[in-house]
Amino acid sequence: MPMSIVVGAQWGDEGKGRFVDWLAQDCEIVARFSGGDNAGHTIALGDEVYKMHLIPSGILNPGTVAVMGNGMVINPVSMLSEMERLRSQGVEISPENLIVSDRAHIITPAHIALDKLKEYQRGDESIGTTLKGIGPAYLDKVGRSGLRVSMMTDVEEFAEDLTEKLAQANAILEAASQPLIDVEVAVAEYVDAAQQLRPYIQDTVAYFAGRLHEGARVVCEGAQGSLLDVDFGSYPFVTSSNPTAGGAITGLGVGPTHVSQVLGVAKAFNTRVGGGPMPTELDGELGDRLRGTGEQFWDEFGTTTGRKRRCGWLDAVILRYSAAINGFTHLALTKLDILSGFEELKIAVAYEIDGQRVEYPPSTNTDLAKAVPIYETMPGWQEDVSGARTPDDLPQAAKDYIQRISELCDVPVLAVGVGPERSQVVAF
Ligand code: GDP
Ligand code: IMO
Ligand code: MG
Repeated sequence: MPMSIVVGAQWGDEGKGRFVDWLAQDCEIVARFSGGDNAGHTIALGDEVYKMHLIPSGILNPGTVAVMGNGMVINPVSMLSEMERLRSQGVEISPENLIVSDRAHIITPAHIALDKLKEYQRGDESIGTTLKGIGPAYLDKVGRSGLRVSMMTDVEEFAEDLTEKLAQANAILEAASQPLIDVEVAVAEYVDAAQQLRPYIQDTVAYFAGRLHEGARVVCEGAQGSLLDVDFGSYPFVTSSNPTAGGAITGLGVGPTHVSQVLGVAKAFNTRVGGGPMPTELDGELGDRLRGTGEQFWDEFGTTTGRKRRCGWLDAVILRYSAAINGFTHLALTKLDILSGFEELKIAVAYEIDGQRVEYPPSTNTDLAKAVPIYETMPGWQEDVSGARTPDDLPQAAKDYIQRISELCDVPVLAVGVGPERSQVVAF
């Protein structure tokens, strides 16, 4: 059975991109199934660092086809500029190795303007979205008034439909005394993008059916994280899609019977960007130490927005929950190298909420905000682990830490990242 689904087990930015790239080396197809350019996936290959927002990470592997599935929301202008940027880094992109689903939805400047307006109107309660128009685009999709990628193949009709959408958004913006969209400029830019992207558009359902029949191996590249899922995340501080394993099935149009592996990627500590509760968050020196100063590309500053990520101890309650909702067959941990030098490390093994011990996060945000982590303390290690390539190269304390995480969520660890570069992986 040929499909591996890679999903984030925390609040996004776990290092999914680098593990998708790792698995993609043995696969024919890498497919994104949800979200849009709110994602930022970093892959370090030799001296080159690639930052992917829309284009699946598999594009970096010659011979791998990258598919953008029907569950995505795609800004065609951002897509083109990302293609340009990757080409300038030497990546070859053509309709031979990049396919966009004709059923995916389009993010328009109306969605971006409305995302900004909504966040502004939320004031202190703002979600801290990436302002890429994600929420409004999914709202139009489920409201049955969105524009699909297939519409870009008839540019005249596309221009008409887009003009109408932008005029509707301008009426809302005007009523809220916000700057208006320049409809003529935006439509010209989108029509140009539509013409350039046309050769990449396909019915990906038919494509998958054929390739799976031939036995092609597929990596499904999750974006965001399980705790940002619109159903299972800390609602309303979530994204507007299902970045969990179920989303891969609906977001690509393949059956669950093809799936052989669900890999949960988790950072060896915890981070979150944007609003909402994070029980193990550390303010002060320890949090700053986990975050890094921002001098290194792997420090905890957003790939898409540059925002400081909130950092804290590893939360096994969250991981246990992610394992349950996704059905993880394996875990991959990243950034073990960042934990070198800590005297001791803490893991939240349960929460106390209103005097009760709980093993899973509560369904409401209000209760999650009350959660007090119950910590287990483990000895740290002082050695630099970035050169480790086999489990035997790791200090015993690091192996114990990995083993304890695996026990706490009852999922075996497949591999651990000890640095951002493709080769810096310890496989178990
Ligand atoms: P994604 O959105 O889940 O793909 O993750 P991001 O790319 O947004 O953030 C993860 C960051 O950690 C990136 O800068 C990666 O280069 C970096 N990274 C991934 N794995 C490791 C690791 O094992 N060690 C270190 N130091 N950095 C890592
Ligand atoms: P990757 O794929 C981390 C967060 C935003 C905000 C919330 C809603 O790189 O892991 P949205 O723009 O989606 O409406 O924002 O979700 N968010 C992410 N946080 N990594 C991401 O993607 C994220 N994509 C969205 O910060 O809190
Ligand atoms: Mg990211």
